Amino acid sequence: MVNIILTGFMGAGKSSVGKILAKKTGMDVVDTDDVIEGEAGMSISFIFKRHGEEHFRELEKKVVEKVSNLENSIIITGGGVVLDKENMTALRKNGTIVYLHAEPDTVYERLKDDAARPLLKVTHPNREIKRILNSREPFYKDHDHQIDTDDLTIDQVADRILDILKST
Ligand code: S3P
Repeated sequence: MVNIILTGFMGAGKSSVGKILAKKTGMDVVDTDDVIEGEAGMSISFIFKRHGEEHFRELEKKVVEKVSNLENSIIITGGGVVLDKENMTALRKNGTIVYLHAEPDTVYERLKDDAARPLLKVTHPNREIKRILNSREPFYKDHDHQIDTDDLTIDQVADRILDILKST
């Protein structure tokens, strides 16, 4: 069976959906952020603070290359994985890309009390969410399926992906 690759902005629900989906299907699940943290022995926030975003993207690319070789897995990606075309080519090799979309206001509501997103540690996170989402719009378009998650529960999103799985 092919991999399911979950893309989307922070707060789109990739991690929660990926974990539920793994339970429902028995597929393996891997989260690129978790692998990066495990290999670096540091949190994502600390990597950004200590080494900067560029270094984080290099680590991320290496992990993407590795997880792209998996099979029968749900691959949860960090929100910026889509920015590198080579990441997407690698991930698509064995998989179907499912983009979880959320409107900026939804993202803000879901993340406003979450301290783990270095990119949103700014004075006006709501403006920053809109700005980054806007600039990434063309990159998130690189998908095989899109699910609009604003009005769906995690469970409902997972069920939509199950339908996609059945049809692939
Ligand atoms: C990032 C999203 C984060 C994490 C890092 C950068 C981004 O992952 O990879 O903080 O550039 O959008 P989540 O999308 O899982 O929050």
